[in-house]
Amino acid sequence: MGFSIDMKRVTELSIIAGTIVSCYYLMTMPSPESIGAGLDKDSQKKSDHNITRILQKRPDLYNQLRGLNSYEKKVLADVLIAEEINVRFKDVGGLDNIIEDLKETVIYPLVNGVPETNGNFEEEEDEDDQLAHLYKSGLLEAPKGVLLYGPPGSGKSLTAKCLAGESHATFINVKISTLLSSYYGESNKLIKALFSIATKLKPTIIFIDEIDALFRKRSTQDHEVSSTIKSEFLSLLDGLESGGGILMMGATNRRLDIDEAFLRRMPKQYHIELPNLKARIKILNILLNKIELDPQSITTVKLAKFTPGYSGSDLKEMCRDAVANAARDFRQGNRKSKKLRPLTINDFTLNYANLPGSFENLSLD
Ligand SMILES: Nc1ncnc2c1ncn2[C@@H]1O[C@H](COP(=O)(O)OP(=O)(O)O)[C@@H](O)[C@H]1O
Ligand SMILES: [Mg+2]
Repeated sequence: MGFSIDMKRVTELSIIAGTIVSCYYLMTMPSPESIGAGLDKDSQKKSDHNITRILQKRPDLYNQLRGLNSYEKKVLADVLIAEEINVRFKDVGGLDNIIEDLKETVIYPLVNGVPETNGNFEEEEDEDDQLAHLYKSGLLEAPKGVLLYGPPGSGKSLTAKCLAGESHATFINVKISTLLSSYYGESNKLIKALFSIATKLKPTIIFIDEIDALFRKRSTQDHEVSSTIKSEFLSLLDGLESGGGILMMGATNRRLDIDEAFLRRMPKQYHIELPNLKARIKILNILLNKIELDPQSITTVKLAKFTPGYSGSDLKEMCRDAVANAARDFRQGNRKSKKLRPLTINDFTLNYANLPGSFENLSLD
């Protein structure tokens, strides 16, 4: 008797256990949509965080950010809205001509060409009603693509970011790793999501740094980005209307390695070179704007003369080291004064004696 009751129990228990296991499996099994886009709990948290981050600054985007699919949510991680961008053209030294051109051919039409703009541009429109009208007529359209190319550290990424800051456009700083998924077909969905987010949040600048990694010529490619991914991207790019409020912007140190098909779609290309003497002076003035120099010892003009071949980024490193050196003295010294001492030539030469274009030639005046 006892034996048969036990058997019943065992059967019941195993049915219950089976149900629990299958429920658990159903609940935790990733849905087909979330597999590649990887919206597991962690990504879901991140995506919620991104939505909150954007809505805090731009509550008016509530409707645009509702009902995003998992791919769009993933792309949101790379989105910066204009209110989060704190660099402006005044922070860029020595690229005045390029910046003027960008203002005229990109910013104005990008912002004024959009029929219903999401940003606040009343001031500009009041100023130049006539011009705004011309842009709206569609005859002076923003180019769909801009490429910045030139040596590393010359300010390409900085300029792109400023462009978004100045134009009050949404800036999508696309990380190539966001787009490339190892799951078959997922990359194409992510690329579609990139363009749909750009459309929802326009005016938008889609920025891809080191674009050569995505659009490298076949012959020079080590691990090729699949051609379906590239053609998906190009066809979405072709589908953008000119003057539709979305600008594709790329930056590269290796323009020669880029696929012709992509280059053809970048009608505006700017060569950003290493800064010449005048440009280096401007950059140093920006970098050392709040730092006191000992004028007997060093000026920005002298520093610029001593640093031919330095990029903007090299100059920044040099200044950072000099300030760090003075700060170290300040921490170790008796601190009679509450102020950091003015920087001297020694602060600058300390770490740079062996670099090309360094200060061997100190007699220069
Ligand atoms: N022309 C410039 N004016 C002011 N700062 C610059 C300039 N070029 C480079 N820098 C400094 O160097 C940093 C790195 O430059 P970046 O824009 O990333 O160069 P690139 O994208 O051309 O490699 C910038 O964030 C900025 O601080
Ligand atoms: Mg860069």
